[in-house]
Amino acid sequence: MNAHAPPPPAPPIGLLVELTHRCPLGCPHCSNPLALERPAAELDAETWKRVFSEAAALGALHVHLSGGEPTARRDIAELTRHAAQAGLYTNLITSGVGVSEKLWGDLIEAGLDHAQLSFQGADKATNDRLGHYDGAWEKKRAFAAMVTRAGLPLTINAVISRANLHQVGAFIDLSIELGARRLEVAHTQYYGWALVNRAALIPPKAETMAAIALVEAARPKLEGKLVIDMVVPDYYARYPKPCAGGWGRVAINVSPSGKALPCHAAESIPGLEFWNVRDRSLGEIWRDSPAFRAFRGTEWMQEPCRSCERREIDWGGCRCQALALIGDAAATDPACHKSPHHARIAAMAAAEAEADESAIRWRSYKEKVEA
Ligand code: SF4
Ligand code: FES
Repeated sequence: MNAHAPPPPAPPIGLLVELTHRCPLGCPHCSNPLALERPAAELDAETWKRVFSEAAALGALHVHLSGGEPTARRDIAELTRHAAQAGLYTNLITSGVGVSEKLWGDLIEAGLDHAQLSFQGADKATNDRLGHYDGAWEKKRAFAAMVTRAGLPLTINAVISRANLHQVGAFIDLSIELGARRLEVAHTQYYGWALVNRAALIPPKAETMAAIALVEAARPKLEGKLVIDMVVPDYYARYPKPCAGGWGRVAINVSPSGKALPCHAAESIPGLEFWNVRDRSLGEIWRDSPAFRAFRGTEWMQEPCRSCERREIDWGGCRCQALALIGDAAATDPACHKSPHHARIAAMAAAEAEADESAIRWRSYKEKVEA
């Protein structure tokens, strides 16, 4: 197989919009950037609406309304309505702690299609501790009840770390109890704030593999009742994930201030030029933005990816992780066993998994807003 130049891109499938970086929780596994964007820098409603219309015209099918906490925006129902009217399937990604009955009614009336609710733990103590928010447990459960009462599909998102790995089975039970149709068992991806906390969060390999086996055993028994998606931990993988579905292939992220990003951590890669939706249409950005073109296709690849039979399956893994772990964004993701750095990374993960968990650093929106 020869590497080839990227063809004109097919339309993106989805748009993930970080409507705001504001968030009431303080999760140590937060993968948002270290420097969060200020409320004053956020796009206004009219610009977001134009972006949604452009996404639909481009052929995108769904929009993920995310953050931070997207319901921290007062205009969240108005934005949802516009996205739904533009023909996009609308998914609200929320912590659930700030959604009143009134707001939920407005969201339903606006045409919201789906809700994805995060839980930090499968019991009150773990949940409220890891979310760094007293009382979040009750609020999340109340939110889940509002979603199912309205007949909307509910997905529970459980980010897994050493602090809650033992609760994977309990997350399954919780999801069934709450009437969720889907559970995402998402092992922490170490980007942004989560990377700062890696030594405090990364779980030991043996326990991780046992938790993965537990999910695999549960899946057939829950067929027709609960779908379980699983994001496996990179550092213990044999092959990397096709991060963001492949760079510039299927998804566009937009930051609160309008920067169009090929993945949510792309700003960690120095030298990339990000175009802003304030200045250009989404179609122009998708086709021609230097950042989207930088790692699209396979032409940029080095060995071993360049001649690998999986290069159009996982697209070389994650560019941001390659940069963070080995200092070269164009290198094979070291999560891949073919990377010459894989053994060192796996050994580092094993050593960090023995570190003292008390070193956890909680996220604080107020302290981390960029100047
Ligand atoms: Fe994927 Fe590259 Fe590893 Fe091949 S060498 S499996 S393309 S990351
Ligand atoms: Fe950026 Fe994976 S997070 S490519």
